Amino acid sequence: MAGMLEGRVAIVTGAGRGIGASVARLMAKEGAKVVVNDLGVALDGTGADQGPAAQVVDEIKRSGGEAVVNGGDVSDFAAAEAMVRQAIDTYGRLDVLVNVAGILRDRMVFNMSEEDWDSVIRVHLRGTFNTIRHASAYWRELRNPEAHHRIINFTSGSGLHGAPGQPNYAAAKMGIVGLTYSCANALGRYGVTANAIAPGAATRMTESIPEERRRGVGTQSANDERSPDNVAPAVVYLASERSDWCTGQVLSARGYEIGLYNVPQVIRQIASPGPWDLETAARMMEASFRPAVGQRSGPFAQAQAPAQPQGAGRS
Ligand SMILES: NC(=O)c1ccc[n+]([C@@H]2O[C@H](COP(=O)([O-])OP(=O)(O)OC[C@H]3O[C@@H](n4cnc5c(N)ncnc54)[C@H](O)[C@@H]3O)[C@@H](O)[C@H]2O)c1
Repeated sequence: MAGMLEGRVAIVTGAGRGIGASVARLMAKEGAKVVVNDLGVALDGTGADQGPAAQVVDEIKRSGGEAVVNGGDVSDFAAAEAMVRQAIDTYGRLDVLVNVAGILRDRMVFNMSEEDWDSVIRVHLRGTFNTIRHASAYWRELRNPEAHHRIINFTSGSGLHGAPGQPNYAAAKMGIVGLTYSCANALGRYGVTANAIAPGAATRMTESIPEERRRGVGTQSANDERSPDNVAPAVVYLASERSDWCTGQVLSARGYEIGLYNVPQVIRQIASPGPWDLETAARMMEASFRPAVGQRSGPFAQAQAPAQPQGAGRS
């Protein structure tokens, strides 16, 4: 049987390790030709090593798939352009862009340096923009509303739930959600869908979470529920021609569960016949919004909770 991605060409950033590597391998297994991008940095973004990307390409080729290495830095605008160009020059086209590359520099907001803020925003948010910028310009030139082009970005529960020890990362990951929504609205006419995945998997990124807060880290067996291999099927499906119906969505993928997030919407509204009287606004907000906030379970019940220790967050 033909694979789900037969004949398609994909770029996967951050594909030398962890979730990106799992995505690249499954894409190749399903018939895609894959540009395996990875700068090969340490978890904090320092250093560079082509080894991890080259190893994934070797594995794919040994299994009969097609892949090439790209060692570019996603946060570099010109390198992102070269990555898109490499896909087109090598395989004649680009159908799918998966933005997985990421780093961590966890600090409580009051201890965070400018550099830790900037480097996390640069890799995640600017890096995701950079590749989209060049891929979308190429897709726009094709002017084919019937195409099945795909942007699949990586966000995180850390942003969606507001991890207290990861303000830079949470901000970058929610920025990526806004970017995804904007792209879904802007690029539909060129046959492009844009979605985001909030994954969960045992990788070196989750190993940085203190021992008592993680489960099952360090195991990579395919049957291990926390293996990054279990994130890949949702991504591969979204990358396929079958997922035209799905755009502007955030999915979660962890273990054996794939979830669909809601899109934020106004759930209560108060109004004034003219300019607000401050005391009236205060009383009406307390009467209408406060009970709704009080009934909330889950992340934003946390808004009242004491902050967790430095670095204690989810990736
Ligand atoms: N593991 C989880 O549970 C989890 C949870 C939520 C979100 N995420 C997100 O999923 C993605 C993958 O995470 P992972 O756990 O596989 O991490 P990982 O550290 O195993 O892999 C990330 C890869 O990105 C590469 N990279 C970093 N900066 C780069 C750059 N500037 N250019 C190119 N490549 C670069 C790294 O070299 C590394 O190989 C990230 O975006 C992460 O934020 C992961």
